[in-house]
Amino acid sequence: SNNKSDSRGALIVLEGLDRCGKTSQCSRLLSYLEELGHSVESWRFPDRSTGVGQMISSYLTQKSQLDDHAIHLLFSANRWEKRSLMESKLRSNTTLIVDRYSFSGVAFSSAKGLDLDWCKAPEAGLLAPDLVVYLDISPEKAAERGGYGGERYEQLEFQKKVALSYQMLRDDTWKVIDATLPVEDVEKQLRQTVLECIQICEKGKPISELW
Ligand code: TYD
Repeated sequence: SNNKSDSRGALIVLEGLDRCGKTSQCSRLLSYLEELGHSVESWRFPDRSTGVGQMISSYLTQKSQLDDHAIHLLFSANRWEKRSLMESKLRSNTTLIVDRYSFSGVAFSSAKGLDLDWCKAPEAGLLAPDLVVYLDISPEKAAERGGYGGERYEQLEFQKKVALSYQMLRDDTWKVIDATLPVEDVEKQLRQTVLECIQICEKGKPISELW
């Protein structure tokens, strides 16, 4: 419907391998949308600020060990603890740009060998993104960019497996952008697809759930 009260913000998710340029594209997109006068926030998962987030952070920085299933469920819980806030932001017309979401959850854990459907199950019922943008880069090129920190997953061999998992998750609703293009070109494509998505949500597209 075109009823103004149905208008809502868009849930926009950026996904990709480590070093694909997601984080800087998220912040450029945030300033662009703010300049246009949109109500917009930039979020990221894991959200390391919560209690669960601190457990995840300590795992990622190798300060603690956890069973693969246990850490998977913590990543998922970290999204669940933000679900109601996420929904109220969207309903109050705020667009969210989210750096990583359930697709990272499934791609990284299934890259370790966990069953794909098992990985997807705890994500069911979280809010479905209105747009998933995949910043596409080969694991080799991403590694060449350097700047892998010392975190657990930041190794070429593992990133190759993550890339394959992402390929299995990808469907034709995802917008794939070549992340090896110059930053400005990636930014231009991103802006266009995001503005289209925001418009559709403004017109009252219903909120839906994964999967
Ligand atoms: P992130 O904080 O985006 O990385 P960065 O250190 O570059 O800021 O994510 C940390 C790592 O966690 C990243 O390698 C992807 C991984 N991850 C999962 O394994 N599962 C998840 O659900 C999420 C959101 C991220």
